[in-house]
Amino acid sequence: MRKKVIAGNWKMHMDLNESIGLISGIKNGMTNVNSKVILCPPYTSLETASTLLKGTEIGLGAQNIHFEDTGAFTGEVSAKMIKSVGCQYVILGHSERRAIFNESDEMINKKIKKALSEDLNVIFCIGETLEQRESNVTKDVVGKQIKLGLEGIAPEQMKNIIIAYEPVWAIGTGKTASPEQAQEVHLFIRELVGQLYNNEISDELIIQYGGSVKPANASELLSQNDIDGALVGGACLEAESFLAIIKAV
Ligand code: 13P
Repeated sequence: MRKKVIAGNWKMHMDLNESIGLISGIKNGMTNVNSKVILCPPYTSLETASTLLKGTEIGLGAQNIHFEDTGAFTGEVSAKMIKSVGCQYVILGHSERRAIFNESDEMINKKIKKALSEDLNVIFCIGETLEQRESNVTKDVVGKQIKLGLEGIAPEQMKNIIIAYEPVWAIGTGKTASPEQAQEVHLFIRELVGQLYNNEISDELIIQYGGSVKPANASELLSQNDIDGALVGGACLEAESFLAIIKAV
């Protein structure tokens, strides 16, 4: 039985003081929790978050890294740097990075390799746009993102990868994929990873759903066979709604 993993992607929200408030609210409500919880605040709050989360079971992640260790890359942050402030996770390939910051599958693959080489766990995001869904190419798009993103990743490294299926049309729009729509793609992802690696790896793979997950729809989504957790945006910015999603497991 795969343990559910609920991660909060804070995106570009929460200054340091706001972060401290949100983390303490989440910590205070973490009773009777059956899932793994991961917080992904902005870079500026990571070190403080790491201190506040010490001694808890809550994981900490960043929202991006560069694929080089060091260098003249103004404004960028490396895997080693986020590790040095206490991160165990990093989100890579988010659709906002792909669409707004022009990240290619090749670049995302390099970032995944770099993160794994630093013993970070990766939340690897994939998903189709509305236009792609309406043209019936969802599985082609998602399949290609997975094959290119995981190129050269060894079987033994797959235990450090979570895949997050986030249909772009469901992100921040209030439109959630129906549990059946999400389940269908999750099963496709698991079968594809089974073909690329083996059944043992695909059986253990955590596949999160993301896109307008809210307290009201979380338990139905999370009860699907192949939905092993959620990557939450908007609803993770308040302790109450994030905790309600965590407790929907
Ligand atoms: P929303 O939950 O705001 O739709 O965002 C989802 C997301 O992009 C998480 O990474």
